[in-house]
Amino acid sequence: MSTMDESTHRDLTEQYGQSHLFDFWEDLNHNEKAILLRSISEVKFPEMKRLIESLVITEPPAEYYDEIKPVDLVAPKDRRAREAGDAGEALIRAGKVACFTVAGGQGTRLGFDGPKGSYPIGALTGHSLFQYHAEKIRGLQRYYGTVLPWYIMVSPANGDATRAFFKQQNYFALDPANILFFEQQMIPCVNEKGKMMLETPFRLAVSPGGHGGSVQALVEKGILADAASRGVEILSYFQVDNWAVQAADPLFIGHHALQQSDMSSKCHRRNSPREAVGVHCLCDQVYRVIEYSELDIYPQLLQVDASGDAVFSAGNSGIHLLNVSFVQDIYDHFEDFPWHKAFKKIPCIREDGTLFSPDAPNGYKFETFIFDALRFARNPLALEIQRLGEYTPIKDYDGVNSVVAARQSMTDYWSGWMKGAGIAIPEQSGSNAAWQLEISPAWAVNREEFAERAQTLPKSFDKSTAILADGTILSK
Ligand code: UD1
Repeated sequence: MSTMDESTHRDLTEQYGQSHLFDFWEDLNHNEKAILLRSISEVKFPEMKRLIESLVITEPPAEYYDEIKPVDLVAPKDRRAREAGDAGEALIRAGKVACFTVAGGQGTRLGFDGPKGSYPIGALTGHSLFQYHAEKIRGLQRYYGTVLPWYIMVSPANGDATRAFFKQQNYFALDPANILFFEQQMIPCVNEKGKMMLETPFRLAVSPGGHGGSVQALVEKGILADAASRGVEILSYFQVDNWAVQAADPLFIGHHALQQSDMSSKCHRRNSPREAVGVHCLCDQVYRVIEYSELDIYPQLLQVDASGDAVFSAGNSGIHLLNVSFVQDIYDHFEDFPWHKAFKKIPCIREDGTLFSPDAPNGYKFETFIFDALRFARNPLALEIQRLGEYTPIKDYDGVNSVVAARQSMTDYWSGWMKGAGIAIPEQSGSNAAWQLEISPAWAVNREEFAERAQTLPKSFDKSTAILADGTILSK
């Protein structure tokens, strides 16, 4: 390490009012000094200055709108459904679509020690969320005779563990050349005075910068270039925690293409005005998503109609389509992208060098949200979805949006396929409530394909059952 490195970095921190990052310098060994310099060199200081001044030193006023209106939801079976389905299938077949999963979050609520995508969600198989997503992609590739590259955004905190998990699972029988992992940027945490915090005397306290950071990461890590070189035009974006998501839905893709949209969303109807989901709406004619943490700022979003249903019904399910060209446009104007701050408990080093584990919030994390890109999108489209078989987010183990609820919901969904194919299964009530069903999406990509393949299945099942990717039946 040269003195030049040290003095350049010292000058930089002084210029931006962060010279305290060198407070412990004299006590650090050679390696620790190198780590500190490297982590300082990764900070985008001008961007941080802007964030600190606009979000911490001054409290930004909430955005005011003269008028907030619900968005129009496209019904899945609307008059263009057939045309849209055909158009979407043609785009998938032509290799114009890639899957894109955001999996960089910390997943703290689930209390699971490991990347959230490695959570063993299958009640019988123990298959992970990643395996389910992978089997959906395998199923689609087989069904449409194409390749769907899979881009997975991780964070420096869970990237190695995620890659190791895929390797250990032999990439779930997908070609590893078509799975690209890339790390999102980590953003320094700052205290109430706008000073960057240290997690150890030689490491900054940092946190993942939100899924909006995927815009920067997609471009800066070469993923957008990879997509372009493969002829991919549309990214099918979904969150790792949604077990039910359709990895690439022809109907959705077709609607998006027919409307010439830059970015589209799937929305489920909010089951209460306080449901912890973002709300899609038009604010002074501009398409926006207002996050659930901001509902009290815009009380009109809490309105209910005569039957008690939310007037602003479009809930954010975290499922989008983004044109590759649009991601590049957003990147080119990223200084216009809105940032959000969250006041959190951040373990840090005190002035005397000891570790402080706060029991109340003590600092800010900064994030951007991908759905904020909708305000810049041409012709944003919102397609209405049912929760069953589309949206089972896993945030906690028990309760609403939990592992338990998701397993029940998927059993209900696949039970519908079984019954539709004339297969007798136990009624799920009382003592049968523990009956579980899993169907690999690599074996049947949709209800229609299941009905065809079901000819080979027994005509009734009385035990909990899983049908695996190769058609093997597992009963317990
Ligand atoms: C999110 C949405 C909310 C939506 C709900 C649907 C946000 C801010 N809010 O809420 O509008 O209604 O999902 O389930 O997203 N992630 C990253 N990097 C990060 C942060 C998150 O990749 O820096 C990923 C996570 O791994 C996860 C997804 O983004 O796959 C959502 O993050 P999460 O914190 O679970 O969002 P929610 O608060 O549940």
